[in-house]
Amino acid sequence: MLVEGLRRLEYRGYDSAGVAVLSQGRVESRKKSGKLMKLLDVLEAEPLPESPTGIGHTRWATHGGPTDVNAHPHLAGGGKLALIHNGIIENFAELKAELAEGGHSFASDTDTEVAAVLLADCYERLLPSEVAWGGLTVAMQMACQRLEGAFTLLAVHADQPGVVVAARRNSPLVVGLGDGENFLGSDVSAFINYTRRAVELGQDQIVTITPESVEITDFYGAPAQGREYEIDWDASAAEMGGYASFMEKEIHDQPDAVAQTLLGRSGPDGSLALDEMRIDADRLNAVNKIIVLACGTSAYAGQVAKYAIEHWCRIPTEVELSHEFRYRDPILDQDTLVVSISQSGETMDTLMAVRYAREQGAMTVAICNTNGSTIPRESDAVLYTHAGPEIAVASTKAFLAQITAAYLLGLYLAQLRGNKFQGEIKDVLADLAKTPDKIQQILDNSGQIKDLARSMSESRSVLFLGRHVGFPVAMEGALKLKELAYIHAEGFAAGELKHGPIALIEEGQPVFVVVPSPRGRNSLHAKVVSNIQEVRARGAKTIVIAEEGDEAVRAYAEHVFYIPETPPLLAPLLATVPLQIFACELATAKGYDVDQPRNLAKSVTVE
Ligand code: F6R
Repeated sequence: MLVEGLRRLEYRGYDSAGVAVLSQGRVESRKKSGKLMKLLDVLEAEPLPESPTGIGHTRWATHGGPTDVNAHPHLAGGGKLALIHNGIIENFAELKAELAEGGHSFASDTDTEVAAVLLADCYERLLPSEVAWGGLTVAMQMACQRLEGAFTLLAVHADQPGVVVAARRNSPLVVGLGDGENFLGSDVSAFINYTRRAVELGQDQIVTITPESVEITDFYGAPAQGREYEIDWDASAAEMGGYASFMEKEIHDQPDAVAQTLLGRSGPDGSLALDEMRIDADRLNAVNKIIVLACGTSAYAGQVAKYAIEHWCRIPTEVELSHEFRYRDPILDQDTLVVSISQSGETMDTLMAVRYAREQGAMTVAICNTNGSTIPRESDAVLYTHAGPEIAVASTKAFLAQITAAYLLGLYLAQLRGNKFQGEIKDVLADLAKTPDKIQQILDNSGQIKDLARSMSESRSVLFLGRHVGFPVAMEGALKLKELAYIHAEGFAAGELKHGPIALIEEGQPVFVVVPSPRGRNSLHAKVVSNIQEVRARGAKTIVIAEEGDEAVRAYAEHVFYIPETPPLLAPLLATVPLQIFACELATAKGYDVDQPRNLAKSVTVE
C-alpha cells in the first residue's frame, strides 16, 4: 500500500525513496537512493514484516545529496522513531548544534534528521502522563514550536502502534478518510485508490490518525478543524490508459482539459458566470491594474493571457515570475487584482508572492488545477482549471487549461466592466468551445511531427521564435525541449532576433517559428515571414507552425506543420500542441524518461 502510494507520488520527487513500518514494538525501515524501482529491489531482497501502520517518502534533495543515508525515513530515539519530511528546516544548523551538545549524533547531512532527533528528544522528555495521552502528538507539538521554515512531517513511534502523527507549515499535506483506515499524503493521489473523501488542513496544524480517528490541533495543542471535501476524479484518471507515458496521455487529454475548463460557465441569462469568483463586483470594477504571478510553464500561460486581458479589458496587465515579484518592492494596492496561476496550487514561490500581495491589500484570484491546495485556499477567489490530475513532471494539459481559465477571467472582467458587448463575448466563447475539436485534429495528425522529432534526436541546440501570443508559445516550446530532452533550447520574440540572438544562427541551426494567421487586418504574418527569411539567409533550418491554408510560408520552410484556423488570440491553444509532441517524441527517441526528467520535481514546495 505504501509503495503503491509512493508510485503515485513519485512525480513529486524521485532522488530516493524509503518506507518504515511498525511491527511488534519495533520500527522497520528500508530506503534507497534512486527511483522507486531501486527501493522495490531492496524490499524484495529484505521484505518488511506485515504491518497496518507505516510511512513512506520519495525525495527531491535539498540538504544533502541523493544518497542512501540521506534518504528518508530518518530514525532517531534509538531506532524507535521514524520520520519523513518535505520542505526545508531553516534553523536546522542551530538545532543540530544544540542537539549535538546534548549528546545526540547524526548519520546524515539532512535537515530532516535534525527534525527526527529533535522529535525523539521531545518524546523522551515527556511526562509519563503525556506519553499515556498520545505522546507522539505532544512531542510533535513541542518540536514544531522549535522549527522554522517550511515542512510537512510524518512520524511513527514503536511505542505507539496504530498511530501516525503529522504536521504542516507551508508545505502540502492532506488526510484521506477511509472506513476503519485513514491516510495521509502530500496530495490525494497517494490514497485515491482507497477513498475519495479528503480533509484539507490549515497552516501550522498537527494531525494524528489512527484507523478509527483523525484529530487535528495547532502547534500548541488547541483543537482545530479541517475542511472535508470529495475528490472529483478517480484512480483511473491518474492511470496511463494505454499510453506509453503520462506525458503522452496528458497531451492527448488536452481536448478534454480545455472542454472541462469551459464547462458550466454560463449563467441563467446566457452571460458568462464564474461562480468561484467571490470578489465583489464593485471591487472588480475598480481594478486598475492586474499582476499575474506564476513560475515556469504557468508563467508562460500568464504571458499569453496578458495579450488577451489587455485587449479585452483595457486594464494594464503585468506578468511576473513569483520569485522575483516580492523582492522588487512592487507597486500594488487594493485596486490591484493579483492573478496567480499554479497547476499544483503548492508552488512555494507563488504562494509566498500571493501572501505578500494580500498583505499589501490587493485582491487575489488563483487559477489552479488542484482542489484543496494551499494557493486557492489563501486567495480571495479561485478559478479551477478542470484538467484532471497532471502526473508527468513537465506540464502540458495544465498549460492549455490555464490559458483557457485566464481567458474566461478576462472575458468575465470585460463583461462586468462593459468593455465588450455581450455578443462579442459570446463569439469568443463560441470560438473557445470549438478549440477541443481542433486540438484533437492536431493530435490525430501528429505522425509528421513525430517523424521529424525522431530525425532530430542528435540536435545540440534548437531555437524557437514567435511574436505576440506566439512569443510565450515559443518559450514554452523551448522549455519543453530543455526539460525533457536536455537539449539547449531558447525561445525568442522573433523581432528581437536582429538585436543580438541572430548571431547564434549558423549553417543547419534548427529554428521553429510560430507563424500567426495571415488573416485579419493587424496580422503580424508578413513581419514573421521576414524574420524567417532573416534566419534562413544565415543557414537556419526552419520548421514552421502555421495556419491551414497559409501556403505562403512553404517557400521559407524546410518543414511546415499546419494547425486549424482560429482567431489569433486563441492560436496558442493549438500552436503549443505540436511543440509538446515534438519534445516528448524526441526525448523518447533519446531513451529518456519523459515523465520524470532528471533534477526536476512536479511540485516545487521549497523557495
Ligand atoms: C514545466 C513545469 C514547471 C511548472 C512550474 C510551476 O513543464 O511544469 O515549469 O509550470 O514549476 O508549477 P505550478 O503550476 O504547479 O505552480
